[in-house]
Amino acid sequence: MLRDLFSSMAKLTIKDVNLGGKRVFVRVDYNVPMEDSDGKMVINDATRIEATLPTLDHLVNQGAKIILAAHLGRPKGNREPSLSLRPVAEKLADLIARPVAFVDDCIGEKATQTAEALQPGDILLLENVRYYAEEEANDAEFAKKLAGNAEAYVNDAFGAAHRAHASTDGVAKVITANGGPCLGGLLMEKELKFLGEELDEPARPFVVILGGAKVSDKIAVIDRLLEKADALLIGGAMAYTFKLAKGLKVGKSLVEPDKVDVAKAAMEKAASRGIKLLLPSDNTVVTPVVTDKLNKKGKPILEFQNPRHNTDPNIPDTEEGVDIGADTSATYSNEISSAKTILWNGPMGIFEDERFSAGTFAVAKAVADATQSNGAKSIIGGGDSVKALNRSGLGDSVTFMSTGGGASLEFLEGKTLPGVAALDDK
Ligand code: 3PG
Repeated sequence: MLRDLFSSMAKLTIKDVNLGGKRVFVRVDYNVPMEDSDGKMVINDATRIEATLPTLDHLVNQGAKIILAAHLGRPKGNREPSLSLRPVAEKLADLIARPVAFVDDCIGEKATQTAEALQPGDILLLENVRYYAEEEANDAEFAKKLAGNAEAYVNDAFGAAHRAHASTDGVAKVITANGGPCLGGLLMEKELKFLGEELDEPARPFVVILGGAKVSDKIAVIDRLLEKADALLIGGAMAYTFKLAKGLKVGKSLVEPDKVDVAKAAMEKAASRGIKLLLPSDNTVVTPVVTDKLNKKGKPILEFQNPRHNTDPNIPDTEEGVDIGADTSATYSNEISSAKTILWNGPMGIFEDERFSAGTFAVAKAVADATQSNGAKSIIGGGDSVKALNRSGLGDSVTFMSTGGGASLEFLEGKTLPGVAALDDK
């Protein structure tokens, strides 16, 4: 089902209902990057945990009894120890400066008893809901067990709202059936505001920057944004599919030949609507060389040799494009500098390798400058662009960074997210 334009459906939030004294089931997205350090799982980036603090503070101040539920990774119904949420409970306790109880299961006697014993303002984090396959199956019996004795439901997990799982949908249904409220948290509200309402009637010019590897991931978003934007700046590997569609040579660059028609249709739509669709005029190119090392999937790792600046619209047969070039960075930055609304999703190149990060960082700087100097509203659509902004130290200089990955994309496509649909209407 598609929503009207970018508007979000108006949903009740925790600002509308006082949950003081109530046991509240709060779905959060604590699917955070972790790494094994000497046999202990350590959190690499706590942004998603920090982003829930306003909701938790609000509930604590009201005297709610807070039961947090979340997933970590994709254990597919197995108790995978490296995907335990225990380190998250410790991190949250640090961040919120309060004790956070943890139960090593999300259903069952121990979980129910601990939830029963909560006092106003207490916080309990349940173990990874995906240790049960019934979570992803949105099993109604499991949802009942998960809901336990909760009297209200809050969803602050925008990043998981595109999933119709027990904790994002089933539990809300149980609480509704019991006459309890189902409310959006403050992060959820903010995400819907910036990715929804703010893009519905954007201040103009509205400039959209799209990057990332694949056109296929962004077809629906491109189509929808061509209804709204004044300019679309394309970068990342998906630009090579557009170049191919223009009859240019792309050498060994990552392309989707079967998506050439999609790229052509997008360019025609842009032209017929008078929307500027810009493609890179120059690139950083490399010679990819197959090594005898294998990646996690058992495929040979490529080494990128002889990076050079290519100003020819065509890329030679033996080379691969890995970043936009300096001229393109300048053109895109100039376009961004005149924007009043900016939406950015997807890096311009392989920014994780610092040899190929210049294009992405130039765009990050241009977006930050337009926000700080021109009062442009800048919205970063989650995933790798957020990582790139943070890496360039400019995370605080934009208007909003989404905590969603897939959820942001689906929302920008205009889809109704199940985790949002499950909440009570205003
Ligand atoms: C995410 O990291 O995008 C969300 O937590 C959703 O995770 P999933 O793609 O495993 O459902």
